[in-house]
Amino acid sequence: VVKRPFRAAILTSSDSGYAGEREDLSGPAIRKILENNGYEVVHTILLPDDRDMLAAEMARIADEGIAELLLTTGGTGFSPRDCMPEATMDISERMVPGIPEAIRAYSMTITPRAMLSRATACIRKQTLIINLPGSPKAVKESLEYILPSLQHGLEILT
Ligand code: MTE
Repeated sequence: VVKRPFRAAILTSSDSGYAGEREDLSGPAIRKILENNGYEVVHTILLPDDRDMLAAEMARIADEGIAELLLTTGGTGFSPRDCMPEATMDISERMVPGIPEAIRAYSMTITPRAMLSRATACIRKQTLIINLPGSPKAVKESLEYILPSLQHGLEILT
């Protein structure tokens, strides 16, 4: 059974974006890459760096079966308000350490600062949730590296 196209959701965490003070460039960058690779982007949302709000939205997307793949951007660094990994772990049912390991290993060949990414990944119900970094450059580098491997995982998951 061919399960493509997979449905994808994009969650951006940004206080300044949510306040309308800064344009979200990373969410649209993710959308473009996903659509170029055959995914159907069914939901995009911008939230502030609020752990409970982020966790609730991620749980909702998984529990309501809105998308098989949920990519997040932002909130993975060391800023005091950055809490995307914690929100992701709050609603995790199963850990997926290999994907952030792979992203960091590859990204270290681009910049040693990749070690500063606290990004994580998990599975909840039949949704794979992956944190990407906050900048459009880092998003592109990370996502293009993992995309070829994701389809096989999503086929098994769903
Ligand atoms: N990964 C890649 N591939 N390219 C990058 O430029 N930037 C790093 C890292 N990972 C980067 C990267 C930096 S500088 C930080 S602080 C962390 O991701 C966290 O990014 P965030 O705070 O934008 O979420």
